[in-house]
Amino acid sequence: MDYIGWTVAITGAASGIGYATAEAAARQGARIVALDRDAGALAGMRERFAAKGWNVVPIEVDIASEASIRTAIEEGMASIERVDLLVNSAGIISRGLFETTGGEEWQRVLAVNLSGSFFCLQQMVPLLKAGSGRAVVNVASLAAKRVSYTGGVSYTAAKAGMLGLTRHAAFELAHEGIRVNAVCPGPVLTAMTQSVIGDEERRKVAAMVPLGDWMSPEDIAASILFLGSPAARMITGTTLDIDGGLSLVTGSSFESYRSARQ
Ligand SMILES: NC(=O)c1ccc[n+]([C@@H]2O[C@H](COP(=O)([O-])OP(=O)(O)OC[C@H]3O[C@@H](n4cnc5c(N)ncnc54)[C@H](O)[C@@H]3O)[C@@H](O)[C@H]2O)c1
Repeated sequence: MDYIGWTVAITGAASGIGYATAEAAARQGARIVALDRDAGALAGMRERFAAKGWNVVPIEVDIASEASIRTAIEEGMASIERVDLLVNSAGIISRGLFETTGGEEWQRVLAVNLSGSFFCLQQMVPLLKAGSGRAVVNVASLAAKRVSYTGGVSYTAAKAGMLGLTRHAAFELAHEGIRVNAVCPGPVLTAMTQSVIGDEERRKVAAMVPLGDWMSPEDIAASILFLGSPAARMITGTTLDIDGGLSLVTGSSFESYRSARQ
């Protein structure tokens, strides 16, 4: 139970990877500060957590707005004296093709998926210094290193930026003992992917993954909690791929790879 007595702040906590991380940390004894723009989902989360006897502080915020983050921290988190682990998971998907991606889509995706994580981390540094965990995990994507399958150019660019943010913050904050790492999930079945992928596409994606399945939000949560825990005390500025081997794929199927050798 690594997380007993810890305060874990999670953006995008009301759904998907953020929610699974909140559940896993709460199960291990953490108090959760759940930051999300979806007030209804936060209310449902509060009820479910209360029923399990888990401690959650839900806070409504739009992480696309620096001012909204400031209000959430100064007012919503006024009674929170420390944060041991910050998980930046809030994100949105974009769909536009390169030549038709409009300025509004580009700015919105960058604002939520990249700038939001920068401002949350920057503004929570004093709270992280007050904690003993001193860890940050950014939820990037395999798209940060390749090309997004589900999203468009703004998604790929924002996630690549998140890895730069992770490295630079890790370098500067190391002297405070604050570790900053990123996870790069492959395809994960959440509301985000289910909203844009049908059943047939779903099967196709699973078939592309060498381990033969989609990642679950719980798979990603387990890696986030590893990177956030004292077990990873000398790991900073790095990325952990959780992709069922997808980044190993060369373009040929395993069957054709094997038959070329028989
Ligand atoms: N699902 C995947 O296949 C996948 C793969 C790689 C990376 N990711 C990343 O994982 C993270 C979580 O995605 P998910 O799949 O759990 O999606 P999700 O849609 O289930 O959850 C995202 C959460 O972020 C919140 N959010 C969105 N915009 C916000 C804003 N402006 N302010 C505050 N909260 C906001 C939503 O309300 C939601 O609760 C995202 O950063 C996403 O890019 C997802």
